[in-house]
Parts: sequence; C-alpha cells; structure tokens
Amino acid sequence: MILITGANGQLGYDFQRIFKEKNIDFIATDYKELDITDIDAVREFVKHKNIALIINCAAYNNVDKAEEEVEMCYKLNAYAPRDLALVAKEIGADYITYSTDFVFDGGKDTPYTEEDIPKPLSIYSEAKAEGERMVLETYARSFVVRTSWVFGIANNNFNRQVINWSKSRDVLGIVDDQVSVPTYSYDLALYSLKLIETKRYGLYHLSSGGVASKYDQAKYVLDSIGWKGTLKRAKSSDFILPAKRAKYSKLDSSKLEEVIGEKIPFWKNGIDRFLEEMKEKGEL
Ligand SMILES: NC(=O)c1ccc[n+]([C@@H]2O[C@H](COP(=O)([O-])OP(=O)(O)OC[C@H]3O[C@@H](n4cnc5c(N)ncnc54)[C@H](OP(=O)(O)O)[C@@H]3O)[C@@H](O)[C@H]2O)c1
Repeated sequence: MILITGANGQLGYDFQRIFKEKNIDFIATDYKELDITDIDAVREFVKHKNIALIINCAAYNNVDKAEEEVEMCYKLNAYAPRDLALVAKEIGADYITYSTDFVFDGGKDTPYTEEDIPKPLSIYSEAKAEGERMVLETYARSFVVRTSWVFGIANNNFNRQVINWSKSRDVLGIVDDQVSVPTYSYDLALYSLKLIETKRYGLYHLSSGGVASKYDQAKYVLDSIGWKGTLKRAKSSDFILPAKRAKYSKLDSSKLEEVIGEKIPFWKNGIDRFLEEMKEKGEL
C-alpha cells in the first residue's frame, strides 16, 4: 500500500490522479487525517496497513511568512520529513520527500547539480536544506527530490496569480531577474514514480526542461490566454519582500533523466496542459 501525506496539495492531488489512472491502491491523507508533525500519530496510522511506500507531499510553502513563522516552517519542512523517514525505516517502506531550488543562492549562472552545495538565503530554504540533510542521514531507502516553481490544478500558484491579476489590471510588472523554471505538478508526480521504480535512492533534481524568468512565465501564460494588457519587466528590488530570493536557481535534472531514461517535458508544454486542465474545469 502507498501512503500519500499532504494529499490535497498540488503534488498530492496529481499523485492521486496518476494512481487512479493506473488502478494502483493508495491511502491519501491531508492535515486533518494525518498531521505529519505528530510522529506518534504517524506511527499509529501506518500500523497494520502494510505500507510499502510513503510519499510526503506536505510542506510549509509560504516563503515570506516563514521569516516570522520560523518554528512552524522548521517543523514541517525539516523535522517532519526526517520523522517520516524514521517511520519508513521502522516499517521497511520506501520514502520520497521534496525540497526546493531555493536551497541555492544564485551564485552560479549554469544549472545547479546535486553536487552543488546548498547556500540558503531564507528561513524556508534553510529549513528545507536541513530537512534534506536529515532525511538522507536517517534512512538509506529515501529519495529527496528538489524541484522548482511548482504549479498544478489543486492549489494556488504563480500561473493562477498572473491570471487573476490579468482580470483586474491593464498593466502588469513582473520580475525578470529571478530565473529558474516552472514545473507542472503532474510531471513532478509522474517522473517521481518512474524514479521510485528504479530503487536508485538518493538526492535528485526534477524540474521542467528549459529555463525561464518569472517574466517569461507570466508572458507565456498571458499570451496563451489572449490578454490584451501591457506586460512590463520589473526587478526584484522593485518589491520589498521579507524573504530573499536567488537571481538564478535552475536545477539540472540530467542525473534523474539518465536514471529513468527519459527527458522531463519543456516548461511551456507543462503550462499548455495546465491551461487545458483549467479550461476543462471551467476555471478559464
Ligand atoms: N509550490 C512550489 O512552488 C514549490 C517549489 C519548490 C518545491 N516545492 C515542494 O514540492 C512539494 C509539493 O509542493 P506543493 O506545491 O504540492 O505544496 P502545496 O500545494 O502547498 O501542498 C502542501 C499540502 O500540505 C498540507 N499540509 C500542511 N501542513 C500539514 C501537516 N502538518 N500535515 C499534513 N499535511 C499538511 C497542506 O494542507 P493545507 O493546505 O490544509 O495547509 C497542503 O495540502 C513540497 O515539498 C514543496 O515544498 C514546492
């Protein structure tokens, strides 16, 4: 049996979708059914369920608020992923959890590989980096997958924000000095599963093909929906935000692509499918 935590989030939703498509049994839990910060509750929950794989999709993702809510962020992004690794070890299940391109400080201008050393710029990314380290130390049958700028149908994300802004504004300014790549949560789930099947545990990068700035992403979304307003280039310094962001944090997914023998789709392809999905659900 497969256990998904944080199942109502973007990634959790798409894991469920894929398991349903493939007729694979799973148990989906979100905060109410299973709070991942309560290790005793997790231990109790997994009892007698014959869990062979734990997929942790739960996380604290409010990068700016984390600067204030330090304890909550560490609980969810560092200690809980480690505790889940511990429980997976106790029951002999495989384990996968997720981290972020934000563990890097943007000092490079070529894609970051798994060999690059994290240099977090914010509380969110410090907690994620700490979580990665502890998970990999705790349990050898763990996958830690770093990804970037996730968007999917089940939750709010930058694509949705841009679409919402476009409804009420004629002019939009979006930063062009934050560069990484948007990743569709469906692809993140699909290629994670292919990785899990290989049993080649460890640290991996998994993000879409290509490179984009926030401006490029917004432009593609706005052009795709036929927005008639004016999109302007802005700089990070135009907006005062609590958490620092790297100028460049594109992840190099080639280690994972080699292990699974497939390429991750290009980012615009993911956005095309996401927009189709929004149309099908009557959200566009
Ligand atoms: N989103 C991004 O841009 C991004 C970028 C890089 C990496 N990642 C990582 O990718 C993974 C998947 O992200 P995502 O975008 O799918 O996240 P998401 O949509 O924010 O989903 C996270 C889920 O975790 C749940 N949750 C919160 N606290 C919990 C708790 N104590 N116990 C159980 N569940 C809890 C949330 O429930 P509530 O909504 O009820 O709080 C939510 O359903 C995460 O590890 C994330 O950090 C995401």
